[in-house]
Amino acid sequence: MKVDGKHTRTIWVEQDGGVGIIDQTLLPHRFATVTLTSVADVARAIRTMQVRGAPLIGAAAAYGICLALRADASDEGLERAYRDLLAARPTAINLKWALDEMVASVRNRLRDERVAAAYRRAAEISEEDIAINQAIGRHGLKLIETAAAKKPGEPVNVLTHCNAGWLATVDWGTATAPIYMAHDSGVPVHVWVDETRPRNQGAALTAWELGHHGVPHTVIPDNTGGHLMQHGLVDLAIVGTDRVTAQGDVCNKIGTYLKALAAADNGVPFYVALPSPTIDFHVSDGIREIPIEQRGADEVTTMTGRTEDGRIETVRIVPDGSAVANYGFDVTPARLVTGLITERGVVAASRAALAKAFPERAAGARAIQPAAE
Ligand code: MRU
Repeated sequence: MKVDGKHTRTIWVEQDGGVGIIDQTLLPHRFATVTLTSVADVARAIRTMQVRGAPLIGAAAAYGICLALRADASDEGLERAYRDLLAARPTAINLKWALDEMVASVRNRLRDERVAAAYRRAAEISEEDIAINQAIGRHGLKLIETAAAKKPGEPVNVLTHCNAGWLATVDWGTATAPIYMAHDSGVPVHVWVDETRPRNQGAALTAWELGHHGVPHTVIPDNTGGHLMQHGLVDLAIVGTDRVTAQGDVCNKIGTYLKALAAADNGVPFYVALPSPTIDFHVSDGIREIPIEQRGADEVTTMTGRTEDGRIETVRIVPDGSAVANYGFDVTPARLVTGLITERGVVAASRAALAKAFPERAAGARAIQPAAE
């Protein structure tokens, strides 16, 4: 997508093989890029959320393997890099998916072929992500067009949570791809942007990217969605996801579940946009089986923003001594999901529908399930 008129991706390879990223911790107040030159740099960037969002975490980890192999192309070097990157964040399954893809692409090669092979596969993973998101956009666009047909001349109101936009992917975004395509093709669309405490990815990132693309949007405090739905002000919700289970349970940024409950209570369609690498066919019950990341207390106890005279400052908003909890994600059971917008079409959030849409992935997971399962 474009930043100040210039086509920009979230990750790229520099002339010398270093990996360029947008430092997302500085947005929306500053647009700055950083070059990562080692696997440690990549692991830190993922951990500190300079890069974030499930698909982008996967792409970054893929390049992390490239940088690791540049320094040490041995089997031990590869295994160490795999372990260090995998430990960077636990919930988004795209991280493990991308690491497994990278290992498969280099494992059976001679050491001196590994670096080039790794860069090739990492580039493919990035290109595939873009193509997948464009396909998600085309399928999701039909949902927005259907909603638009019911209210001629009025904008379709889409509610989204966190940032599942182009900043969370290599380009286009998942939940935002249908929105950008609707906007670009002249379908009037307006986005309710959940601020998404504690890190405010909605207020800071989704609002920033929608604004740069000219998409009408309104940032709302996280607790507003239910009220808007009760008053007919949300036509559909589209969110992203960090992991979808074989039975269609959806893990996404904390607070997604509450929006799905409100949507169900108000008859608002609740869609989840996802690329197939986000499906984890090895797990079924999302509530029991998906590891939920718990992050530092400082994300809850403090807020960072720009002062009137332009300084970026962090202030404490919780009394000293109060305990805080910071669960990064929650799980929305499949029964609350109207449909999954994938690169192969909109499918039901069910085991049968997912296995039918992605038979090769479902079969691959079954092949390595322990016999008891
Ligand atoms: O903690 P984050 O910012 O990485 O969480 C991101 C989300 O929850 C996104 O909605 C999800 O990764 C989907 S990204 C296309």
